[in-house]
Amino acid sequence: MNSVKVFKDPAKLQKWCRERKLAGAKIALVPTMGALHDGHMSLIRAAKKRGADEIVVSVFVNPVQFGPNEDYEKYPRDEKSDLAKCAAEGATAVFFPTPANMYLDRHSVYVNEEDLSKGLCGARRPGHFRGVCTVVAKLFNLAHPDFAVFGQKDYQQAQVIRRMVRDLNFDLKVVVAPIVREADGLARSSRNAYLSPEEHGKALAISRGLKALKPGARLSSLARSLEKAGLKVDYVECVDAETLEPRRKIEKGVCVLVAVYCGKTRLIDNRVF
Ligand code: PAF
Repeated sequence: MNSVKVFKDPAKLQKWCRERKLAGAKIALVPTMGALHDGHMSLIRAAKKRGADEIVVSVFVNPVQFGPNEDYEKYPRDEKSDLAKCAAEGATAVFFPTPANMYLDRHSVYVNEEDLSKGLCGARRPGHFRGVCTVVAKLFNLAHPDFAVFGQKDYQQAQVIRRMVRDLNFDLKVVVAPIVREADGLARSSRNAYLSPEEHGKALAISRGLKALKPGARLSSLARSLEKAGLKVDYVECVDAETLEPRRKIEKGVCVLVAVYCGKTRLIDNRVF
């Protein structure tokens, strides 16, 4: 297993990354909330493939992106296993900050993206993307990455972060890696751990429904098939893949996004056409 540097203190991570950067290292950042699975491993592999000398994985369940009735407290946490997985996959540094050292007393500066965050998950989870942008901006400032890798499963998040990077002139590239699925098609997510075997079975309707969509198909039939499988639809939407503006027809250049509740667990997935 590779040796991995472990940081808890933001200032120490920042100093190390600055030194590595000055020494000419190409730095990749893989921001995560931990409970790492194959989807996260694919992000580390994408960083490796792009020739990163240092791959910094951050593991932080960011309180600021959770709403008051969401799963912040029960979100799965397992530092030991996360560290072992990062080391086995070839990450060179893992950052495990605490809420107290990421958000100092009287923290009062936040980053708001005000266009792409309006609909979809942004509309259903007020403040979510403000929390995501704020923590990701902080991680960018700490790790000085040449590029940062995000997963396509969180499609809206990836678009919002691209916009933040563009509009705030962050000097880095955003890389978006494809969705990783379980053998049965369910998109990998740390929240899949909440599902009972029966719920897992119901959740398969999401990937099946998305896969079956053909250009010209109606979204209402996808929504109905999800409800029929026992899922509660939060939204099923077809949007322009760049602007996230609503589009009527399923055709090239659109993204169909789905958010459902499977029991108490909120699951998301999408397909780009
Ligand atoms: O996608 C996630 O896991 C989180 O939203 C992120 C990007 C790590 C920010 O907390």
